[in-house]
Amino acid sequence: MEKFNYGWKFVPNFKDEYLSKFPNNAEIVNLPHNAKEVPYNYFKEEMYQIVSTYEKEFDLEVNKDKRYFLKFDGFMLKARIYLNNQDLGEYVSAYIPVEIEITKFVKEHNRLVIVLDSKEDKDYPPFGFALDYMTFSGIYRDAHLIEETKTYLRNIYVHGDSQGNLDISYDKNGEEELDISYNLYKGDTLVKSFKEDHLKIDDVELWDLDHPTLYTLKTIIKDRVYETRFGFRDIEFTNHGFYLNNKLVKLIGLNRHQGYPYMGYAASKALQEDDANLLKYEVGVNVVRTSHYPQSEHFLNRCDEIGLLVVNEIPGWQHIGQSETWRKQCLRNTEMMVLTERNHPCLIAHGVRIDESVDDHELYSETNRIAHTLDKYRPTIGVRNFKNSEQLEDIYGYNDFICDSLKVGLEKPKKVKKNDKPLLVTEYMGHMDPLKATSDEQKRIEVALRHAKVINDNMEHSDACGAIGWCFLDYHSHTDFGSGDKICPHGVFDLYRNPKYSSYIYSSQQDNFPVLEVLSNMKPGDVPEAIFNDIYVATNCDYIELYKNDEFVSKFYPKNDLFKSLKHPPILIDDIVGETFKEDKFPKKSWPKIAKMFSYAAMHGFNHLPLKNMAYLGYMMMRYKISYTDLVGYWNEYVGAWGGKAKTYKIKGYKDNQLVKEVELGPSNSFDLEVTTNKTTLVNEETYDSLRIRVRHIDSHGSLMQYSNRIINIKTEGPISLVGPSSQCLLGGQLSIYINSTGKPGVGKVTIQMDEFEKTLQIEVK
Ligand code: GAL
Repeated sequence: MEKFNYGWKFVPNFKDEYLSKFPNNAEIVNLPHNAKEVPYNYFKEEMYQIVSTYEKEFDLEVNKDKRYFLKFDGFMLKARIYLNNQDLGEYVSAYIPVEIEITKFVKEHNRLVIVLDSKEDKDYPPFGFALDYMTFSGIYRDAHLIEETKTYLRNIYVHGDSQGNLDISYDKNGEEELDISYNLYKGDTLVKSFKEDHLKIDDVELWDLDHPTLYTLKTIIKDRVYETRFGFRDIEFTNHGFYLNNKLVKLIGLNRHQGYPYMGYAASKALQEDDANLLKYEVGVNVVRTSHYPQSEHFLNRCDEIGLLVVNEIPGWQHIGQSETWRKQCLRNTEMMVLTERNHPCLIAHGVRIDESVDDHELYSETNRIAHTLDKYRPTIGVRNFKNSEQLEDIYGYNDFICDSLKVGLEKPKKVKKNDKPLLVTEYMGHMDPLKATSDEQKRIEVALRHAKVINDNMEHSDACGAIGWCFLDYHSHTDFGSGDKICPHGVFDLYRNPKYSSYIYSSQQDNFPVLEVLSNMKPGDVPEAIFNDIYVATNCDYIELYKNDEFVSKFYPKNDLFKSLKHPPILIDDIVGETFKEDKFPKKSWPKIAKMFSYAAMHGFNHLPLKNMAYLGYMMMRYKISYTDLVGYWNEYVGAWGGKAKTYKIKGYKDNQLVKEVELGPSNSFDLEVTTNKTTLVNEETYDSLRIRVRHIDSHGSLMQYSNRIINIKTEGPISLVGPSSQCLLGGQLSIYINSTGKPGVGKVTIQMDEFEKTLQIEVK
């Protein structure tokens, strides 16, 4: 079968005449496709809510003994589909796949026309009320042309448990008796051939977070083979935590929205995988909630491959429509979500209640029934933001927005629910303390520490399964939300997938790679009164050392009452003078005490120096004939905040007494443009491939120039294309540039220019 994602024609409008002939100036596009590109921020949401038209011509050797289907993994929202001038009807997707049999209409040469209505429609979820996310347009996931035997299978479900018990089920469509056989593979190795639907496999390798072993079941009927990937594993939510293969795993996670700058929802397989990789390997969480709709199969596949747990959710947001059409679609969404996602070992619960909606006994009894019928192996979860609402699900999902300071991160589990269902906190933070990539330093520190406080409480609440924060990424939202710029800045990463301080709190909780991130740029002019206050370092090191202008100041250990239950609490630097203080006018034994006082004054303000310290300093000055001018000189030398020369600070992190990471912060007059990419080869497969180029404006110490908003000019040559405009601005000193392959092989070149810097990347396209 031909690769069905390439070579579509597209016009961003609809006219009746397109049904018989497409305009000559139609654009050639590949799927996933975004029907309307919008600016990064500040635009009218109606802009992308358009009616557009797609055309695809394709040839087929029609075999009379076969059946043919079109399958769309996702489009927004309603598609009227015409094949060879036949109206095949209107189909609604939003976030679920749509499959249409075309056997009767298909010919040797075919013309498919799709009129896609991407306007919001209150008759279908998630629409009908205010909605805190945007729903970008286009056929934004893959499309498939499928050939089947007369009698064929759908909805193959393979479940394997930790004992090796295999349970296989499927739906048969058609009249014929089928002779079905199975081949079970681990990687490329055939493990067993059999015919039973239920059996025990010996010596299975389990799927878990560190070793996510995957098996593939090939289901064979005549010349048709279906491949289903799955894993052997057990999951259990209890009142004393979540268990994976009988091992307690504290769930620490983030919510993910699927939007991107400029490409909207139309992110390719490669970018879906990239997000999963970022969550697992850069943010370091163990669970993600696909808020607030089913997400790409490619995202879930990658979560399977790398061992990242997933909680899914039916489309919606607070609102339940009352029309029959709306409610029917909600049930259909539930059915399709469960059928599409149930083979993924990463998936640990089906979210069958619309996020933060009110009770609806009838609707949610039905969504629960559907999920339990189609998947007896997975619990359902219902997410609420008010306590003690009706509980029809197996897990009590609660959005806990108590954290408004560092006093408390999460409510005590006993306070948020009266029933005996396991608790999973499904959101926290978010609107409680919005944070832009360009927010000032104090705000960035405050939000990061609040995330730390919540994770701390999550670790302490042994009677809860875990907590999933709001959220992984900033996301586009309607005018009713965000800061008026159409972006909700709630992510620990920005919309370009670049980290904010808060993400370092998460990454520092894991031990796979060393993390050492100073939550301060250590520039006195960036903080009120030039007073640093507490300087925290998000790190998984055992201890850190601070050097000032290459002189050793002090060693710091993770000792912190606020975050005592974190595996790796942020380390507090509370002394920036330490052993550097060496003034012979004072007796040597008084140096540490004076250094401490200077440091305290630097970090909290001279006015806050305790009276007894003031008195001591006064006494020492008199006793050792130290003038006020001397004192100012010492201040400038040892503290240097507002008056002295700016200092260079070096922080070294040690694990098992080995230096594992070093960070330098200081004044700089030379800058650079750092360009890194997540890959340099693109492969055109079922669809085009994509890569992400991370661009950072850095200083001579390698630190991010947080406030840089320079213009970056981007040029591409060869069989690749740039997503978005050819000039883009840095956001908080950094930016991601997305490049897609176009379906053809060759060598591509990306040129990135800023100021006097010009960097080029060679991209091999296969
Ligand atoms: C929650 C909601 C999320 C998002 C978040 C912002 O109430 O479930 O979708 O709006 O608030 O903090």
